[in-house]
Amino acid sequence: MIIGIVGLGTVGFGTLDILTKEKERLEKEIGEEVVVKYGCALENPGLPEGVIYTTDFHDVLDDESVDVVVELIGGLTFAKTIIMGAIEKGKHVVTANKALLAHDGQEIFTAAKEKGVNVFYEASVGGGIPVVVPAKESLIANNIKKIEGILNGTTNFILTLMETDNLDFKEALAIAQDLGFVEADASLDLDGFDAAHKIAILAMNAFHIFFDFDKIHTTGIRQVTKQDMDYAKKLGYRIKLIAQAEKLDNSIGIDVSPTLVPMSDIVGNVMQAYNVVEITSDYVENVLFYGKGAGRYVTASAVVSDIMKTHNKELWTHDYTYTDAITPIEDSRFYVR
Ligand code: HSE
Repeated sequence: MIIGIVGLGTVGFGTLDILTKEKERLEKEIGEEVVVKYGCALENPGLPEGVIYTTDFHDVLDDESVDVVVELIGGLTFAKTIIMGAIEKGKHVVTANKALLAHDGQEIFTAAKEKGVNVFYEASVGGGIPVVVPAKESLIANNIKKIEGILNGTTNFILTLMETDNLDFKEALAIAQDLGFVEADASLDLDGFDAAHKIAILAMNAFHIFFDFDKIHTTGIRQVTKQDMDYAKKLGYRIKLIAQAEKLDNSIGIDVSPTLVPMSDIVGNVMQAYNVVEITSDYVENVLFYGKGAGRYVTASAVVSDIMKTHNKELWTHDYTYTDAITPIEDSRFYVR
């Protein structure tokens, strides 16, 4: 496997780091060499020896030996050119680009299908939480009825601070910005568009549909006040920014909106920058996925797993070793978690 990584920011560098540290184990798992040939970015973040640095993504696309292109620059312009160019040249693609897939998924997936290459994008929703594949594959026995959840960590962090530290929206936002949580274009987080991108991707996979992203009715959290939160609390609720997609009688309902969630509900207890996704379907009923939805290694974990999936998935060896070394973790009557 010969990889070109385009975009060496937080997630790109994390991806390179995991691929370097885990090289031997990953190679054993998939039964072939895992080589990062190119790192492409405007600045060299300090690439390991042997990785070619370039500022021109054409170097990656034009190299016939590269068979996996990892797009981690984000946005709707160059990223699309890179992904479509890679597909055109018969290369597999791994991306975390939620905005691009939400807007242009149909074009990208159709082109990939025609060329017989894979586009994997588990990292685009929920950071490292595996949720795209469950929606698309693991629950295929079921007719998925609804997907809902907290898909934006930044707004959940702000709402948490407003409640626990009794801050107003602007004060909580300033803290989130200081901690580097908020996207460069803050509107993506605060006005619900980031969550809308993610629910669009989940809806595509769960319901096998393409649709116009702009049709998603999206409301963010700018209007939520401390007073709203106090009233909600008195009624036994918390205000959460919920993204949901549901199969209705004659349509698919999709929206992102501040929502009153019962405090007794698991989703109502997801605090800080955590994400949660609940999938409701007929046979398995409700399943929940919870974890950190952003961060260097969290998201890079999903990217690296996707990179591995592009190759010889059916041949993965997962060598098992017999062991006698099985012991209790605690030898006491009650284990304290
Ligand atoms: N801005 C996003 C969030 C980053 O806060 O969840 C991860 O997609």
